[in-house]
Amino acid sequence: MNPVHLTLSESQPMPHARTAEPRATGSAHAKGILVGEHAAVYGHPAIALPILPLRTDAELRHVPGPLSLRADGISVPVTELPERFASVGVAARAALDFFDLAHDDVEIEVHSDIPPRAGLGASASAAHAIIEAVRAAADAPLSDAQRYALVQQAERVAHGNPSGIDALATRARRPLIFADGASTPVVIGAPAWFVVADTGVRASTGEAVAGVRAVVEADLPRGTALLDQLGRLTREAVTDLEHGRLSELGGRLTAAQELLDALGVGHPAIDRLVAAALAAGAVGAKLTGAGRGGCIIAMTTDAARAETVRDAMTAAGAVAGWVLAVEAG
Ligand code: MEV
Repeated sequence: MNPVHLTLSESQPMPHARTAEPRATGSAHAKGILVGEHAAVYGHPAIALPILPLRTDAELRHVPGPLSLRADGISVPVTELPERFASVGVAARAALDFFDLAHDDVEIEVHSDIPPRAGLGASASAAHAIIEAVRAAADAPLSDAQRYALVQQAERVAHGNPSGIDALATRARRPLIFADGASTPVVIGAPAWFVVADTGVRASTGEAVAGVRAVVEADLPRGTALLDQLGRLTREAVTDLEHGRLSELGGRLTAAQELLDALGVGHPAIDRLVAAALAAGAVGAKLTGAGRGGCIIAMTTDAARAETVRDAMTAAGAVAGWVLAVEAG
């Protein structure tokens, strides 16, 4: 099977240049969920796409003082991190403990292109990058299962009850099916173009997951039926991808958006971008990730249409947009 190449064009320039040859570094990337988010928390499958060019990089240095994280030129001891960065502190501490390394005199600098709280896996990506930087400093092996367990420790702080899809997709090199805590590659029968656009509305994944649980528990038969329908759409989407049935797949994405809305994770800004994408010729569109804001994903069957769809979403208020080309293979 040929590798799937994901390329990305941006509506906004990358904001920084990277420094060369650090001693102990780690990196990971962003992810988008094509279909199956939220249902994945309840054991249903989901499909995720790695977004390779949106990255998090971490570098570990020995600097006198307490264990600290540095971002945007500011270094903060992990014990003083604001609540929304608590999970990256957990990633650093858990990795140092795993490798039996001292916490003092360590500073980890983190840089991320990934918009936070936007559904693109920023927290899992940061955890991966930090854990890999610590592993490189320890110069010791780390199995995939051990790495996953460490990222999940951090994700439990960020999300409460993470399914594990973000932990797997932010290190994967190609689109994957997530089921039962494990991933398998998706066969892609025909090239497809995905447009990810950012509403600019920031939302907590943990709160969205808790909100869905409240909706499901308030009316268990209805909630279970909605999750089951999402699971069914995802299994059908896998077959559509395999056979290159992109129009059918598009319809399932739009249908998934209605189910996610019914689970309470919609937002008027999502509706605006979904409507703009469909009006501009996308074959399907829905939120991606936790919802309540964040990003949407739209699909087209050719590259030129993808650019048109991205422009239409920018005109409808998207603050950033990226086109991902997925080759058959
Ligand atoms: C977040 O990217 C995906 C959710 O399904 C949560 C999870 O699976 O951990 C909303």
